[in-house]
Amino acid sequence: MTTICICGSGTMGSGIAQVSAMAGFKTILYDVSNEIVVKAKIKIDNDLQTLVEKQKISSEKKESIRQHLSFSSNINDCIADVILEAVIEKPEIKISLFNQLAFLNSNETIFASNTSSLSLSAIAKEIKEPGRVAGLHFFNPAPVMKLVEVVKADKTSETTISKLVELTKAFGKTPVVCKDSPGFIVNRVARPYYIESLRLVEEGLTDFETIDRLLENQGFKMGPFKLMDLIGNDINYAVSCSVYDQLNKPERLKPSDIQKEKVEKGDLGKKSGRGYYGYK
Ligand SMILES: NC(=O)c1ccc[n+]([C@@H]2O[C@H](COP(=O)([O-])OP(=O)(O)OC[C@H]3O[C@@H](n4cnc5c(N)ncnc54)[C@H](O)[C@@H]3O)[C@@H](O)[C@H]2O)c1
Repeated sequence: MTTICICGSGTMGSGIAQVSAMAGFKTILYDVSNEIVVKAKIKIDNDLQTLVEKQKISSEKKESIRQHLSFSSNINDCIADVILEAVIEKPEIKISLFNQLAFLNSNETIFASNTSSLSLSAIAKEIKEPGRVAGLHFFNPAPVMKLVEVVKADKTSETTISKLVELTKAFGKTPVVCKDSPGFIVNRVARPYYIESLRLVEEGLTDFETIDRLLENQGFKMGPFKLMDLIGNDINYAVSCSVYDQLNKPERLKPSDIQKEKVEKGDLGKKSGRGYYGYK
């Protein structure tokens, strides 16, 4: 595998593209929005420059990483050995994108999805040669977080899984193979962290700053509200709804009205400049 195409240049796509190029793969970063592609390019350049200033990489290495990266808002440029999508958390968008790209690419191309919660088997069954479709779930921020869930759908072939495990290792990450189930492992375990905290606020028992402060004092790297702002409240709400629906709506995992309101107001978190907290 030599060429990796990342589709969706938002929070996750831009970070994964940086990881891929740093590991020496020819990497194409694509988005429907040219404005977002330009923003992603600036973000990656700034991140690489920070690494140079911190003496984590040399200026020559930075240049070589940049040479491995190309940016596009033209879908015809998305020709690769592995297509990894990180577009919005909506199955119909992911299926339509994969089908457009299956038409452009060879039957050998692997299709991986960075979905946090959607059924990979449901996505794969809509794609020609479903044996090459799997999940490759990175965590945020992708250049920093080591864990990657490699998700096996009903029809994913063993060859696809072993190629993705090798790719994950080549990225310098730690793969964990898991079954296709709502939220896989991490998002299933993490759901009550957010939902129970939101419920405390909804019931007027405390405020979100206090919950964050308390949990950070207990050793969590980030309190739930800071973490939701980092993830993006739109993405976190979509994942909450998807896990809740797929598990037959258990009361304990019911998404909160606070999440819905944040999304409706456009208070998406760090990426929009405002969420539970304000950002410059
Ligand atoms: N944010 C997180 O912490 C996180 C962590 C792990 C996984 N994920 C998953 O990664 C995916 C992306 O999340 P994100 O936070 O990067 O979202 P984001 O909103 O930051 O970025 C999504 C990008 O997809 C683009 N897009 C939409 N439709 C497209 C299409 N048809 N073709 C190409 N690009 C398209 C948008 O323009 C946008 O730039 C989601 O499936 C999410 O569940 C997110």
